Amino acid sequence: MDKTIAVIRGDGIGPEIITQAVSVLEKTANIYGHRFIYNEIDMGGMAIDKWGEPLPDKMLQLCRESDSVLLGAVGGEKWNSVPGHIRPEKGLLKLRAGMGAYSNNRPAKIWKQLASASPLKKDIVDKGIDFIIVRELIGGVYFGEHKTDTADGIRYASDMMIYNESEIERICRIGFETARKRRKKLCSVEKSNILDTSRLWKKVVHEIASDYPDVTLTDMLVDNCAMQIVKDPSQFDVIVTENMFGDILSDEASMITGSIGMIPSSSLGAGTKGVYEPIHGSAPDIAGKDIANPIGTILSAAMMLRYSFGMADEADSIEKAVSEYLDAGYRTADILPREAEEKEKCILVGCSECGRLITNYIK
Ligand code: IPM
Ligand code: MG
Repeated sequence: MDKTIAVIRGDGIGPEIITQAVSVLEKTANIYGHRFIYNEIDMGGMAIDKWGEPLPDKMLQLCRESDSVLLGAVGGEKWNSVPGHIRPEKGLLKLRAGMGAYSNNRPAKIWKQLASASPLKKDIVDKGIDFIIVRELIGGVYFGEHKTDTADGIRYASDMMIYNESEIERICRIGFETARKRRKKLCSVEKSNILDTSRLWKKVVHEIASDYPDVTLTDMLVDNCAMQIVKDPSQFDVIVTENMFGDILSDEASMITGSIGMIPSSSLGAGTKGVYEPIHGSAPDIAGKDIANPIGTILSAAMMLRYSFGMADEADSIEKAVSEYLDAGYRTADILPREAEEKEKCILVGCSECGRLITNYIK
């Protein structure tokens, strides 16, 4: 099969981790007889340097014409002082919105090989961590009006949070559908004790619940959810929530699984085209040192094959290769065990070595 992939290397560790993911994709293509054609896309800080904006329209167009988008990471210190409307992150939001990718799927699952890397106590980890955060991605406060001004000599700023019922309904339906394929438990997370958007959210999710009688729906306030994720993560199967809550909770959820460097994500809209990216950022402090963990990006590539290209066997073989790599004791610095005894059993590798090993494990 021929597939076109828009590849965004971006900033910081982005280029390093994407190189490893592409090597994994190439090996997979060779084994299964596919051809992947890569469209290189300028986005983020590097696009600001080159084009004066974080995602030029012609680049977005190329993404839309591709079968899917694979993204490393964008942003960094260097562009922190550029005006808000052209910051690197704005490119990311423009991409998500331009692709209509409203549904962001972030798994929090502990790899058995990395259980000791979790900061949670063993008895909590042993109860199991395997849930998915379904995050609304193209609405809410991220996309409302942002304003900074002065009134009566006092500076103020505001960010508008808006949701309409159809935006809420479509993401909650994804939540129900996702739960249906798993342990059939959906937890809707909001702040309905304070926010009108959350009260509407809660109403809408309960209105559509009768279409999914096989799924048990519960409600949870976001602050409580943040606490429950560290107290007893085994209670969660699927969490559905709005954009900013999902951003925050998914970082927390990734950490309890050992490392944010391991977590992939998919963002899908109405069709099969998606945006696939690790959930971590561009980590400028470790960029260029060949120590980043490329697994989040490699697993994102696997998700792309599974969900956008219908290549389940291919995705399985990538995930199996990652598991075998971990079984063999290889670890990038971020997932190296803390205790000396455990550490001794592991082999510390860099980003390119990690990619090379996983590529070799693909059969
Ligand atoms: C994420 C990131 C982005 C977000 C940033 C880089 C804009 O934190 O994908 O979680 O907030 O969505
Ligand atoms: Mg985030």
